[in-house]
Amino acid sequence: MQNKQLNISYQVYQSKDELPARWAALLQQAIDATERSYAPYSNFRVGAAILLDNGEVVCGSNQENAAFPSGLCAERSACFYAGAAYPGAKMLAIAVAARQDGELTETPTYPCGACRQALVQYESKGGVPMAVIVGSATRVEVFSSVKDLLPFVFDNLD
Ligand code: THU
Repeated sequence: MQNKQLNISYQVYQSKDELPARWAALLQQAIDATERSYAPYSNFRVGAAILLDNGEVVCGSNQENAAFPSGLCAERSACFYAGAAYPGAKMLAIAVAARQDGELTETPTYPCGACRQALVQYESKGGVPMAVIVGSATRVEVFSSVKDLLPFVFDNLD
């Protein structure tokens, strides 16, 4: 038997203003995208913005549906849109933010498990790390790779 340990390092900033400029701009686009969320059931409005290596930023927001499982998270709407519109582009970073009752959430909104699985595959496809920037009213966290959020990924079919 062997005991193994995993360490993940990430940065915590007190606000968007402390972030490197290009992450601050991306997070602002994620915040703006919360306004385009369609969340009549949860009223939890999520926005995501993905920076591509061609300089484009592709945004997504959660889109809910009366048949609940038919809705989609902001992160997957953004990465599927980016994959569909720019199939050859690498995804360099994704920023995520959410609002409840109009206000930015107190704590960061992390991509759900299904979104992590989708994002990590685009990260592998691109061959470069995709940074994850999660914002909130009280702090911003930056992870340097989606793999840091999903270390034991299912990739057996790759
Ligand atoms: N949601 C996202 O869009 N991203 C996340 O990371 C977590 C959850 C959405 C799904 C649903 O529309 C609402 O937030 C409440 O779960």
